[in-house]
Amino acid sequence: MSLKKFVDALPLPPVLKPSTKSADIPYYEVTMKQVKQQLHRDLPPTTIWGYNGMYPGPTFEVRRNQPILVKWENKLPFEHLLPVDRTLHGAEPDKPSVRTVVHLHEGRVRPENDGYPEAWFTRDFKNVGPKFVHEVYYYPNCQRPATLWYHDHALGITRLNVYAGLAGFYILRDKEEEKLDLPSGKFEVPLVIQDRSFYLDPNSNQFGELFYPSQPPQDPPPAPKLPNPSVVPEFFGDTILVNGKVWPYLEVEPRKYRFRILNGSNARFYNIRLNTTEPDLKFIIIGTEGGLLEKPSDPVSQILLAPAERVDVIVDFSNHKGKNIILTNDARAPFPNGDAPDFDLTQIMQFRVKSKLSKPDKSKIPAKLSCLERLDPKDAVFVRKNTLVETKDEFGRLKLLLNNMDWDKPPITETPQNGTIEIWELYNTTLDTHPIHLHLVTFQILSRAKFSGNPTGNPYIGQPLPLDPSESGWKDTVRANPGEVTRIIARFGPFTGIYPWHCHILEHEDHEMMRPFENLHNPN
Ligand code: C2O
Ligand code: CU
Repeated sequence: MSLKKFVDALPLPPVLKPSTKSADIPYYEVTMKQVKQQLHRDLPPTTIWGYNGMYPGPTFEVRRNQPILVKWENKLPFEHLLPVDRTLHGAEPDKPSVRTVVHLHEGRVRPENDGYPEAWFTRDFKNVGPKFVHEVYYYPNCQRPATLWYHDHALGITRLNVYAGLAGFYILRDKEEEKLDLPSGKFEVPLVIQDRSFYLDPNSNQFGELFYPSQPPQDPPPAPKLPNPSVVPEFFGDTILVNGKVWPYLEVEPRKYRFRILNGSNARFYNIRLNTTEPDLKFIIIGTEGGLLEKPSDPVSQILLAPAERVDVIVDFSNHKGKNIILTNDARAPFPNGDAPDFDLTQIMQFRVKSKLSKPDKSKIPAKLSCLERLDPKDAVFVRKNTLVETKDEFGRLKLLLNNMDWDKPPITETPQNGTIEIWELYNTTLDTHPIHLHLVTFQILSRAKFSGNPTGNPYIGQPLPLDPSESGWKDTVRANPGEVTRIIARFGPFTGIYPWHCHILEHEDHEMMRPFENLHNPN
């Protein structure tokens, strides 16, 4: 059974209001709660975990250079909603089943406000992890306007906490961007795309509840003795949700819209297209994770998004009055060598173009959007060769690693100096694409090329491959493709301390594909 498509309207997460505004710095309180929420017309309400009891969480609207304080509170039950693998790091039997810590993805914040995986806390802060510092986080918002997001990051259960619903948008704005007259207000819509599976047998007592596998599929040659529950190599759901609704629709006017699109899935990639018989309906890319591009892209017909990647696009529906247009997907899972999606998974959501405008469309797509500092490889003080490798854990399960090291294997090997520019090379020796994310910094992609030979020796490197138009701006997550070296450049700073870098396929991150880096104090 699969659920009927395009019967529910797309929800828009409400904007969060500060709890006090009396002081000069807005103070927010957000409480994680277990609630029931209706995710589709034909489903009973589903048990989810939500920030302030909603999935996705409420949207932060913040201004550049105007800091805020947030108290993240945990009022979740003591038992996890989903199967916890007690053999994974951080989730050992002596650890509380339900631990949470909130990471502001792409936030330039001090380490104690970053949501370090071991800075977790339990309900009412009864238990806290070894790296826990304080209850109230400070976000300075001294960075380019962009689409950030916040989500759970607790060590060893991030995939489960995010899957249960703990993610939301954090939109940073400034005057300069507003002066551009891009589509705004109800014509600017955030879209978070996620895949989930449900118990769909109306006779089962779990009808409508979220399904997350407790073990990988057991292939005919008998699987090795796996723990139960056991982490899966990556999770792929059979149902697509946008903003927390299954296959929703959005009524749009025949005019320009700005969509801030986030792939918030655990592991699924989306190659999005606007399925229409009218070939002129395309995306114009105006921004990436780190904010606006210098200028709008030429119209493109597809955009590939790995988990955690975002793209900011303009879609102009003005010549498509009365049409139904479907946002589709054709990315393989795992990407790029897995199965092509079956029909359900090619469908994301529907746009219903009305025949009339409520008011004339005065928005613009200016020829110049912003200025973007280009980091120069000549200014890099260090080139770091990083490898993405495949190995096995003690249960014979596939384990993916960065530089062949577990998360907590000392010493910290990636140690840039504050304020310096480094090139990081990502040699992917595995069979899948891994979206690699660095905390603290945004970076630019220099190149991709095939390589052969030993990545840490002198590998043979082929001709540079073309980058996507959605990769030309500031990024915080980059796809490292199999057999390729992906080169990125970043200026490390502004804060010193220890931050994670990791694969954003959440099952990989929870199973050791994460390392700390330390941005060192610069003696000069
Ligand atoms: Cu969006 Cu370290 O994560
Ligand atoms: Cu990965």
